Amino acid sequence: MHVTHLSLADFRSYARIEVALGPGVSVFVGANGQGKTNLVEAVGYLATLGSHRVSSDAPLVRAGAERAVVRAAVTQGERSQLVEIELNPGRANRARVNRSSQVRPRDVLGIVRTVLFAPEDLALVKGDPGERRRFLDELVTARVPRMAGVRSDYDRVLRQRNTLLKSAAMARRHGGRGMDLSTLDVWDQHLARVGAEVLAQRADLVSALGPLADKAYGDVAPGGGPVGLEYRSSAAAAVEPGAAAADPGAAAPAGTAGLREQLYEQLIAALASVRAQEIERGVTLVGPHRDDLVLKLGELPAKGYASHGESWSFALALRLASYELLRAEGNEPVLVLDDVFAELDVRRRERLAELVAPGEQVLVTAAVDDDVPGVLAGTRFSVADGAVERL
Ligand SMILES: Nc1ncnc2c1ncn2[C@@H]1O[C@H](COP(=O)(O)OP(=O)(O)O)[C@@H](O)[C@H]1O
Ligand SMILES: [Mg+2]
Repeated sequence: MHVTHLSLADFRSYARIEVALGPGVSVFVGANGQGKTNLVEAVGYLATLGSHRVSSDAPLVRAGAERAVVRAAVTQGERSQLVEIELNPGRANRARVNRSSQVRPRDVLGIVRTVLFAPEDLALVKGDPGERRRFLDELVTARVPRMAGVRSDYDRVLRQRNTLLKSAAMARRHGGRGMDLSTLDVWDQHLARVGAEVLAQRADLVSALGPLADKAYGDVAPGGGPVGLEYRSSAAAAVEPGAAAADPGAAAPAGTAGLREQLYEQLIAALASVRAQEIERGVTLVGPHRDDLVLKLGELPAKGYASHGESWSFALALRLASYELLRAEGNEPVLVLDDVFAELDVRRRERLAELVAPGEQVLVTAAVDDDVPGVLAGTRFSVADGAVERL
């Protein structure tokens, strides 16, 4: 798929812009702070309903404006669609597809797909588990858009269960006899049912992505690696200490009801085993929200061990693997390379450029035109003073 037109109103630094885009490579060049990242961030927002830079919508709305609108015309094969999201910080966002009446924002997921490379990607390797969970869940949603709904169900059940645990913790502290714990049993079942679905999709993703990441790592850092991906499940660790890294996908074919059933039982058992602690602390201690993806470079975890260059190679490998996976499954994404070339040495720069150049649509931003390797010669745009102009 590719974006043929992007329009923004009051998004970040842009009051209003219209940009016509074609397939192939587009390079956006401009001095720092001129709005290059703001532009590609908008495309990423349509794909993920979030930003790779901030966790809330408020900074995405132009200072002084009440709402922002991001609209894109998208072509996939013969089919064209128009998607639109209105960001209303503090209130519900609105979305439309093909100018029809409103749909829920998450119903637009899957129309625009992106794989975005950015300086922030280093946090995939060096950062907290939450960074890697977000990486997995965004990719899960790009593969299986209905998972966005499952994910938000999970978050809701988790919040409600935590509220219940907090009041149980309070009641205990104040010497009460405690609450009726059968209510908690019901919430355990909700959490395990939705959580098992999240876990099954993540397991399926990790087993598909692992070999692609290893290959991509070899491509960006010839002679380096091997690298591997290991899902670390908090539930598995709770029921069977030492087995935290067990691959849930190994036991049953991924995506099957059998796997979900197995993960459900495991979550139920894990919740039972930590219940006393949970009531003590007032939070849910096991489930997909406490898991991690361990990135292994040889036998060692990359986090804490990999050099700066190796960490960069790993981050690039994860993005390239994501691209290969989506493409292989018939969901060709838009590739976005936000200011990454300046971060890389010449060799990695050239390798990366060669690997992404054949993409259906590649959007590149750079402060210095010379940092962009020659194979990415494409349509050039200048970004300055709130305007984007084709050169
Ligand atoms: N919500 C906003 N309202 C107005 N200006 C904003 C907003 N968010 C960011 N900006 C401005 O956008 C500029 C940064 O744009 P960015 O796309 O990150 O630059 P770059 O071209 O370096 O990638 C900064 O000048 C910043 O002040
Ligand atoms: Mg930038």
